[in-house]
Amino acid sequence: MKDYGKYFKTPSIDDARKRVKGSEVIDFKLSDQFLNFGKEKKYVIQTYGCQGNEADSERMSGILEKMSFTEANDLSEADIILLNTCAIRGNAENRVFGEMGRLKSFKRNNPNLLLGVCGCMPQEESVVNKLLKQYPYVDLIFGTHNIHKIPEYLYTAYLDKERVVEVYSSEGDIVEDIPKIRDNKHKAWINIMYGCDEFCTYCIVPYTRGRERSRKPAAILAEVVKLVEDGYQEITLLGQNVNAYGQDLESGYSFADLLRDLNDTGINRIRFTTSHPRDLNEDTIKAMADCDHVMEHLHLPVQSGSDSILKKMNRKYTREDYLKLVKQLKAHIPDISITTDIIVGFPNESEDDFLETLSLVKEVGFEGAFTFIYSKREGTPAAKYEDDVPEDEKKRRLYRLNDVTNDGYLNGNKRFENTIVEVLVDSVSKNDKEKLSGYSRHNKLVNFTGNEESIGKIVKVRILEAKTWHLLGEEVN
Ligand code: 5AD
Ligand code: SF4
Repeated sequence: MKDYGKYFKTPSIDDARKRVKGSEVIDFKLSDQFLNFGKEKKYVIQTYGCQGNEADSERMSGILEKMSFTEANDLSEADIILLNTCAIRGNAENRVFGEMGRLKSFKRNNPNLLLGVCGCMPQEESVVNKLLKQYPYVDLIFGTHNIHKIPEYLYTAYLDKERVVEVYSSEGDIVEDIPKIRDNKHKAWINIMYGCDEFCTYCIVPYTRGRERSRKPAAILAEVVKLVEDGYQEITLLGQNVNAYGQDLESGYSFADLLRDLNDTGINRIRFTTSHPRDLNEDTIKAMADCDHVMEHLHLPVQSGSDSILKKMNRKYTREDYLKLVKQLKAHIPDISITTDIIVGFPNESEDDFLETLSLVKEVGFEGAFTFIYSKREGTPAAKYEDDVPEDEKKRRLYRLNDVTNDGYLNGNKRFENTIVEVLVDSVSKNDKEKLSGYSRHNKLVNFTGNEESIGKIVKVRILEAKTWHLLGEEVN
């Protein structure tokens, strides 16, 4: 393989920080010359990180299969391996670097194997520099903004035998009509917007995913109508900050409008993630309450219960604002289940700040939480703050927090004991072949005895017992 030829572009964090208004919508079209390019070749995509990355991987599979590639059963038969990576915390990145070390031997056994790294990590200047220096056997590096160019990249790497590195710092177009191979036959991810303009001081996402840009309502609605025709039961709307949906469209059409329109498409279940408390307004809460197909669950990351830490995080709300929102939510949707994300050990977080977080968790009664130790991300404002909480203290805080959030999981499950809930059945349970498994409207994992023919359908289940991580029940007819 020659070193870089036609494609060599590395990212700049300073350019990624800039915000330029206006985005174009481009329609994806695969040129005929690529249609048979993948005949008799196989691919593997390994996905790390959030649902946004899972949705991107479905698009990459869609493009590859349009090019006649087929999915390999395991790594040893792959002609292309793509790692779709996550940059959110240091440990997510370390896992990817570890995996790349392991894949080196596959390259040795099969010199024609193409190894690519894409997704969020290549959007970071420091990562690309490290890849170029320490991982010369990586053939292909591209980011989150240019998935649609995969055909050209593969062509160049295979036929011209040139290494391809192309990462745009801030490309902001929306590419519609990329084919997708959806991973699931009854639940689908729907991107409603891309990027993030919030700039929380700890977070790398505004740099890796670019500026906030919303898809046009008509494109989203058409996608969902098609899914209903194809028998899909559930959609999850994706965006870094779905509550800001539409703000860049300048048509006045909001996230609340979108929920109401989607509710009329005939799709059975609508979920969405992620919400930012600053942009969650009463219109949206009312739409959630009014729309039967919008589920009674909200993931509303709070990050901290301390006003001084929230300010340093640039979250733009106070503890009181958050509690007011929760009150509003519970007033409109009394049985709502609220889950959250929390970071411990942010720079300067004192014991008192941490106690404020613990008390907020109890006061809200979160029924689930993703809890994280703060991880310094190069290029973000917080990376310049003095990271003064000792590592073992951060771990202790995480354990103490998890003790409290685990109680929340159990309490949230207990309230469904001896009730009948609706479950969208996913599959046979992984841990108990005698049981089926799926999620309730409130997003509770339910394992139950029932009929395998119910897989892919919504059924009624009587809850017999609540455990911390799941509910146990039996299907009722
Ligand atoms: N360190 C730790 N956790 C982080 N998150 C985002 N950035 C960081 C970071 N630098 C968490 C936040 C966010 C979730 C997706 O990841 O809680 O809501
Ligand atoms: Fe998703 Fe953020 Fe991770 Fe990128 S960095 S994969 S957007 S969680």
